[in-house]
Amino acid sequence: MTQNPKIEHLRKLKEESRLGGGEERIKRQHEKGRLTARERIELLLDQGSFREVDPFVVHRTSDFGLDEKKILGDSVVTGWGTVENRLVYVFSQDFTVLGGSLGEVHAEKVVKIMDMAMRNGAPVVGLNDSGGARIQEGVVSLGGYADIFLRNTLASGVIPQISVIMGPCAGGAVYSPALTDFIFMVRGSSFMFITGPEVVKTVTHEEVTFEELGGADSHAEKSGVCHVVADTEANTLFLVRKLLSYLPQNNMEDPPYLETDDDPLRREAALDTIIPDDPSKPYDIKDVIRLIVDDGEFYEIQEKFAQNIVVGFARLGGHSVGIVANQPAFLAGVLDINSSKKAARFVRFCDSFNIPVLTLVDVPGFLPGVDQEHGGIISSGAKLLYAYCEATVPKMTLITRKGYGGAYDVMSSKHIRGDINLAWPSAEIAVMGPEGAVEIIFRKELAEVENPEERKKELVADYREKFATPYVAASRGYIDDVIEPRDTRPRLINALEMLANKRDHNPAKKHGGIPL
Ligand code: HXC
Repeated sequence: MTQNPKIEHLRKLKEESRLGGGEERIKRQHEKGRLTARERIELLLDQGSFREVDPFVVHRTSDFGLDEKKILGDSVVTGWGTVENRLVYVFSQDFTVLGGSLGEVHAEKVVKIMDMAMRNGAPVVGLNDSGGARIQEGVVSLGGYADIFLRNTLASGVIPQISVIMGPCAGGAVYSPALTDFIFMVRGSSFMFITGPEVVKTVTHEEVTFEELGGADSHAEKSGVCHVVADTEANTLFLVRKLLSYLPQNNMEDPPYLETDDDPLRREAALDTIIPDDPSKPYDIKDVIRLIVDDGEFYEIQEKFAQNIVVGFARLGGHSVGIVANQPAFLAGVLDINSSKKAARFVRFCDSFNIPVLTLVDVPGFLPGVDQEHGGIISSGAKLLYAYCEATVPKMTLITRKGYGGAYDVMSSKHIRGDINLAWPSAEIAVMGPEGAVEIIFRKELAEVENPEERKKELVADYREKFATPYVAASRGYIDDVIEPRDTRPRLINALEMLANKRDHNPAKKHGGIPL
């Protein structure tokens, strides 16, 4: 207690603001299995580091009886704090106040901290739980969203932006998260859609639940909109903290270095036998990744979407790297529309934020099919090609097995500015696989000989020996070296350190015409 009435008054106001929509609504939020806006911030940030701004802001609307519902701080809690002692800006929508709906001052509060984050070069994390545009404020709410969309776009590639969906996120409101770098969702209690199940039923007569239409698993597996899913709010926020540990604060910094006990010279004999003798047999590329990186730790992004390509973050000798790897255990690691888009976006993120890219190649080519062609595999594949071509961060490539056709070029080949391109002795680098090649080159001969199957076998074996190896590419310098698999970790860490001061630039331009 203090004797000073002005200080007493301040404390009372602060307490009022802290309660948001009040005890009753907080209780309701908890009954739904959800945390409040402030509890979420506490879990996200280092303990006691949160500094709030704008706790006294109130809306300016009197229409539809809103003048009776003025709540200090309105429907969003904003400010900054730290994650592992590094500055992070945060906004957390408060569902207990008018359903977390976004009106004029809610937008102003978000815009204020986004502007601060841009000026001071630190990430923004948005915790979303909102009924969308505040209906009573009409077009002013729409203007508020657009103010945020503009800032999301201008901040893209300058500071990392992370969106966490912790409740409803519908209509045009989804576009702020969609413009940010990563979307996290909580399984069973968050959803995102442009129009909900009721509207869908009216327009298309499809019956679908909230969860099927826009729940975490749907967006993680089917649409690819969601990058990371967890079962609880606490786990989701923990994973946000973890992701931040791989990222720099802004595009002018390098990613953080994290001391490791994992020996940079560690040789891994298990890698020598990881590729099956039969070239059509799958293996799990994530086993290879875990054997190479520091402490076997791999932070996967979009784990359940387009599983024929694997993307995510790890460390090599303490340095953050982005990994892109074809996955032979899923659709033979083929490149298709979704995997190309997934990897292209990831490569561009890494390039924006100075995170070196390691590409592990085992790709039979692009996926044939009418659906793929008519769905635009040409322009989707071009996105990935474009992303690799324009990337100026250190690019390290390792071909473990197949590097066939156009897909060989696309997957960070030497020709598109790969800095260090290595191959294992099991690599097969050629225009196409032996069977396909023999059928085309020797079609006439095979049609004429007495025993075509026998002859084909001979020709395939011959082609395999001559062309399905890394040595033709290595003889031209397209591959810098063929290495023993067990030496992979030391060789990659050495390459990363050799490339630490890499400088490369693209021609001056406003922006390119990436085939979006
Ligand atoms: C004002 C809102 C609101 C909104 C919810 N509330 N959404 N107030 N504007 N958009 C209020 C409710 O009136 C209620 O107030 C309180 O928040 C809690 O809402 P409930 O409905 O009781 O909660 P729940 O049952 O959990 O349902 C949550 C919900 C539902 C699914 C989000 O509230 C809902 O459908 N809201 C409307 C969603 C919507 O159509 N928004 C506009 C989308 S268009 P009281 O005082 O009664 O408890 C959009 C465009 C953005 O957002 C465009 C950007 C370009």
